[in-house]
Amino acid sequence: MARRIGSASFSRLLGTWRPPDDRGLAVALADRVRLLILDGRLALGTRIPAERELAAALDVSRTTVAAAYETLRTDGYLDSRRGSGSVTRVPTPAGGDPLEPETPFSPLVGGTLLDLAHAALSAPTDALRRAAADAVVELDGHLGGHGYSLAGTPELRRAVAHRFTARGVPTTPDQILVTTGAQNAIALLMSLFTNPGDRVLVEHPTYPNALDAIRARGARPVPVPLTSTGWDVELLRETVRDANPALIYLVPDFHNPTGAVMAPADRAAVVDLARRTRTPLVVDETLTELPLDVPPPTPVAAGAPESPLVITIGSASKVFWGGLRIGWIRAAAPLVRRLAGLRPAVDLGGAVLDQLVTARLLDDVESVVAERQQDLRAARADLRAGLARAFPDWRPNHPSGGLSLWVDLGEPVSSRLAGAARRHGLLLAAGPRFGVDGAFERHLRLPFTLRPDRMAEALDQLTAAWQGLDHQPETGADEAVAVA
Ligand SMILES: Cc1ncc(COP(=O)(O)O)c(C=O)c1O
Repeated sequence: MARRIGSASFSRLLGTWRPPDDRGLAVALADRVRLLILDGRLALGTRIPAERELAAALDVSRTTVAAAYETLRTDGYLDSRRGSGSVTRVPTPAGGDPLEPETPFSPLVGGTLLDLAHAALSAPTDALRRAAADAVVELDGHLGGHGYSLAGTPELRRAVAHRFTARGVPTTPDQILVTTGAQNAIALLMSLFTNPGDRVLVEHPTYPNALDAIRARGARPVPVPLTSTGWDVELLRETVRDANPALIYLVPDFHNPTGAVMAPADRAAVVDLARRTRTPLVVDETLTELPLDVPPPTPVAAGAPESPLVITIGSASKVFWGGLRIGWIRAAAPLVRRLAGLRPAVDLGGAVLDQLVTARLLDDVESVVAERQQDLRAARADLRAGLARAFPDWRPNHPSGGLSLWVDLGEPVSSRLAGAARRHGLLLAAGPRFGVDGAFERHLRLPFTLRPDRMAEALDQLTAAWQGLDHQPETGADEAVAVA
């Protein structure tokens, strides 16, 4: 059965969608719903409010809503059936495989759209080829067995444990669970630590798919704003006291999307908070291997390597390649065993060959990182220079690591810009994708991960999309305020 969204929640999700002077209301409404579907804020298979109900909630005529819904139906974004309402879907691309519809936030491999929605690099080709060749030889040692391993291959568990130890967190292989990327790690931890209705403390903004994993579990994200100087530890303490979350989820290293890095004293303070309140602290280190101007951050777990409450997530996706689909969890050994026990309901472990490749790559991580850093520093400088030329009023940050800029657009138009950019052939992740209840409409995350020629093309498309927007006068009242 389709899930429903009520008209009040739907209106909130739509945010500031009305064009200036209310011109082209139906087109603007259809555009906004399409964007919400495509960037994942409105889940597929959701029954949206009936025309009359939405018209009343938005204070527009029913004809406007009917026209918007009709456009969405014609374009393949809504299925409407008499008696069962209108349900969100995505269209099958022309000439595409009907079994492979375009999915929200999709990388659109081989498609014509330029993708600035994913902050992810292409593979380090030479290192990956070498690692793959070595791994194929090593695979021989596995072929006599059945190949299933809930916790991961011994080679990769050893290599990940070794990397933690080298980074200052003594770790043994039985403290490592290999996962299908960091996202799978987040979902597994949510299923272990949360029940429907529980609260999960998150930074605000935060990584969107973590928000989705929390909601998919029926839990509720409790957003704590990041300040311009980073984490407000006092506010974190108060929120834990007041909201009593089942879990704290933080991204302290080159935070996605702001690039912020948690100060050493704050790292100690959050560990102390977890211990004193007995709240599991999940530290997502997905971007930790990508410092650009600062020394590698000291892992939060270094402050409590033995604590069962401090759990670390890592990933091969950003430092090596997203196509490996390898991540991991570092936790106390008994917890790793419990997590492995949960796994068969979801999957039965990862691919052996990919794990062997990743183990080999980890042997070589320092040289891969050194090469990546050079390219990324140049790409960050190019993007900042390009933005300064094309959008002198935008205020991009200068992250000390990671893969993207977090840009203040000066106006609450991020969703409209993302919608317009798509029509120009460019995929963007609008600011509200990183927030709860429509926050961050003034912000845009821009990765500096495309090849220079593709990036130049993307900037041209971004410029065209921006110039085509109707710019509203700034009211300052549009950005939803997060309540902790
Ligand atoms: C903070 C954070 N966590 C988790 C993930 C998911 O990574 P993976 O590709 O390893 O599933 C990402 C990817 O962008 C991320 O930025």
